[in-house]
Amino acid sequence: MEKLNNKPYVFITRMIPDEALAIIAEYCDYEVWEKEDVPVPEQVLMNRTCKVDGLLTMLTDKVTDEHFMVGRNLKVVANMAVGFDNIDISAAQEYGITVTNTPDVLTDTTADLTFALLLSAARRIPEANNYLKQGFWCTWSPMLLTGVDVYGKTIGIVGMGRIGQAVARRALGFNMMVNYYAPTPKDLGHLPVSFKPLEKLLSSSDFVCVLAPMTEKTKHLIGERELALMKPSSVLINTARGPVVDEKALYNALLKKQIWAAGLDVFEDEPISPDHPLVNLPNVVATPHIGSASIETRTKMAVLAAQNLVSVLTGNPPLNKVV
Ligand code: GLV
Ligand code: GLV
Repeated sequence: MEKLNNKPYVFITRMIPDEALAIIAEYCDYEVWEKEDVPVPEQVLMNRTCKVDGLLTMLTDKVTDEHFMVGRNLKVVANMAVGFDNIDISAAQEYGITVTNTPDVLTDTTADLTFALLLSAARRIPEANNYLKQGFWCTWSPMLLTGVDVYGKTIGIVGMGRIGQAVARRALGFNMMVNYYAPTPKDLGHLPVSFKPLEKLLSSSDFVCVLAPMTEKTKHLIGERELALMKPSSVLINTARGPVVDEKALYNALLKKQIWAAGLDVFEDEPISPDHPLVNLPNVVATPHIGSASIETRTKMAVLAAQNLVSVLTGNPPLNKVV
């Protein structure tokens, strides 16, 4: 565990693909937390942080001001995610430690999952799948498992970053009217989409897709008041971060049929258990934070995180600097 030579020493908080590991191995000595399905315990992360020059972290790792304080040699935290709400960014800045993320490589994959949840919730695909597999199918029936149409409807995208724009492009292919809300209207070139204030967007949308990052300003951006503005026939999709939506308020809105269905890939306190009230509603389609989970994209994310880590530790500018 001790430094053996002059190579930088890094701690990688989960098993990553060999391709990414090879990039690190060329320039660094490293230790990997090898339990694939168990996050590194807080105490272990703290202990390693005291010794290392760099960390390659996951969104399940909380990196606090305490880590930056004890990390006397720490120069870089390379997060294998586009989101970085697991890291205290202002503390990193204060201590002069570089933080990097993995944007772009996961944009289309996450937009695909967003659309998969949208289609699944609208057309009740998981429910229909269970219906068939559990042997309930006795005959074709006029109104059996009827959902709502997607094509030609209005979608409201909350948070129009890279992923929001990629969802917009998919929606346009479904002949949808695309509106978005962002803190300020954006110049989106030729994309035929319209900015709307949040209230207007919510009240006019058939599908609302939450794609805003988690910050102090976006916590519970969609709460009781906002859900009450949505149409009873509407569907809410969240593939961003759980806390952007007030889960209790969402549960009540679904229960009271204030909105029609939800598709959720993220939750306020992950992982959730199968008895979580939301996932026991028949009109909720849920996945366990797999927005970017294609083999190709997760490999690209690990490689990009490794490149960011190595760049900083070899004295070069990182490719994706957060601070
Ligand atoms: C996943 O949620 C990410 O931020 O990359
Ligand atoms: C994330 O990459 C976003 O900007 O949407």
